[in-house]
Amino acid sequence: TSILVLNGPNLNLLGTRQPEVYGATTLADVEKLCQTKADELELSIEFSQSNHEGVLIDAIHAAPAVHAGIILNAGALTHTSVALMDAIASIDLPVIELHLSNIHAREEFRHKSWIAPVAVGQICGFGASGYALALSAMADLLAEA
Ligand code: DQA
Repeated sequence: TSILVLNGPNLNLLGTRQPEVYGATTLADVEKLCQTKADELELSIEFSQSNHEGVLIDAIHAAPAVHAGIILNAGALTHTSVALMDAIASIDLPVIELHLSNIHAREEFRHKSWIAPVAVGQICGFGASGYALALSAMADLLAEA
């Protein structure tokens, strides 16, 4: 069983980007953490990142042919992208919304998520370990199905 771990804009800069908000962990560290957790759960993962909305949409469209679920940190597109919401609504795969920071404790504009209505659930506020939590939740979800 394969899971797509998809990361949106600016997450390539993790580690140096506002470390007081997002921590010192780099995206490469996050990928390693995901791989370790996936091995433990006996899942395979594809880990990717794009700064481009259309590339993320294409990845969501292509996912059902290869993957059983998606873990999505859409970055700031979470708060703006009806197109990402529509892409998720167009496929029949469970999506878990993920954020490093607690978006509900931050600026008002981050409280709104276009992903939440089409996601199974949301994990936020646990930093990089949220990715491991999301993989574990996805494994449980797929085992129930
Ligand atoms: C984020 C939260 C978003 O509000 C922000 O725009 C990001 C990262 C997070 O992981 O905490 O780019 O998705």
